[in-house]
Amino acid sequence: MLKSIFIALSKNPSLKKIILEWKPARNASRRFIAGETLDDAVLAVKTLNEQGLNATIDQLGEYTIDLEGAQQSTGDVMQIIDKIVLHKLRANISVKLSQIGLTLDRNLCKENITKILDYANTHGLFVRIDMEGSDLTENTFSIYRELIQEGYTNVGIVLQAYLYRTHKDTEELLSWNGKVRLCKGAYKEPAEIAFPKKAEVNKNFDRLVKRLLESAAKPGASHVSLDGRFPPIPALATHDEKRIEYALRLISQISIPFEAVEFQMLYGIRRDLQTKIAAKGYPVRVYVPFGTQWYPYFMRRLAERPANLWFFISSFFRK
Ligand code: FDA
Repeated sequence: MLKSIFIALSKNPSLKKIILEWKPARNASRRFIAGETLDDAVLAVKTLNEQGLNATIDQLGEYTIDLEGAQQSTGDVMQIIDKIVLHKLRANISVKLSQIGLTLDRNLCKENITKILDYANTHGLFVRIDMEGSDLTENTFSIYRELIQEGYTNVGIVLQAYLYRTHKDTEELLSWNGKVRLCKGAYKEPAEIAFPKKAEVNKNFDRLVKRLLESAAKPGASHVSLDGRFPPIPALATHDEKRIEYALRLISQISIPFEAVEFQMLYGIRRDLQTKIAAKGYPVRVYVPFGTQWYPYFMRRLAERPANLWFFISSFFRK
């Protein structure tokens, strides 16, 4: 119920305008967002790298409303790539296709992601395409499929365990050795296309983890690169200890090398767990969002955990 409310509010332009300018909300958002500038993100990634954690940097922004904005966002991603190289960060990039024009013009979006991948390629960098709401799933997946068919190897995608279609998508993706970040899914989707119950999503997540880990166990399966920029085939993105315990059990049962799978978590969430898993020797990558367009991302984080609402409210009373 609360989740639906926050997800609906995350798309409300009037509330967005108010919240973005409201200082207590900006302060509260800092728990989940590295800051508003690229330099803030660089600083956050340097700290994570010092703790033995890799990163993926995301300039916040989605559903860009005009072509200029889509071009601007594409240029901004190139600047992140420059900074990663300049500061020798153990990091790659995450990008949303709606940020670079998917909802405006599919062809333009395809051109923009191709530009980003070409630029990333010249710098030995990997780019992950985030998965958005179900209105964009098919287009996002089909653009990814085209990129793979065109020979791009420095790109991966995200699959969401709450969608019924994900089992089929996983099989297709594995048949091309596609790189997948598996998450539960952060949007509100109808029961016709997504598991409505949390327990069902968790069960499906475990099933998909099993399938992905079996592929990571194959001889010659890709490993996380030495510079921390390229992930292996499966990236398991969750803070759910039960899901992680299940994956760790399987990894040891089927003797998968440490570097053939990575765990991913969000900036500011379960830092204890991030360092705990890394201390066991597994690659851990932290998703580091930054930028001025933090409103929808922040609302999704509130939606995931009602307790965050109290954190948000209490921040009004802090200086
Ligand atoms: P679950 O929601 O069950 O939470 C398990 C535990 O984690 C909680 O009990 C709590 O301790 C902690 N936790 C989780 N969320 C929290 C929060 N917001 N605040 C505080 N604690 C929290 N989704 C998507 O649709 N498309 C995408 O591209 C991505 N990308 C992505 C990248 C990475 C690296 C991660 C980790 C996640 C995503 N997601 C995503 C988000 C994902 O779908 C999901 O909404 C969140 O990860 C929360 O789900 P959990 O798996 O953590 O489980």
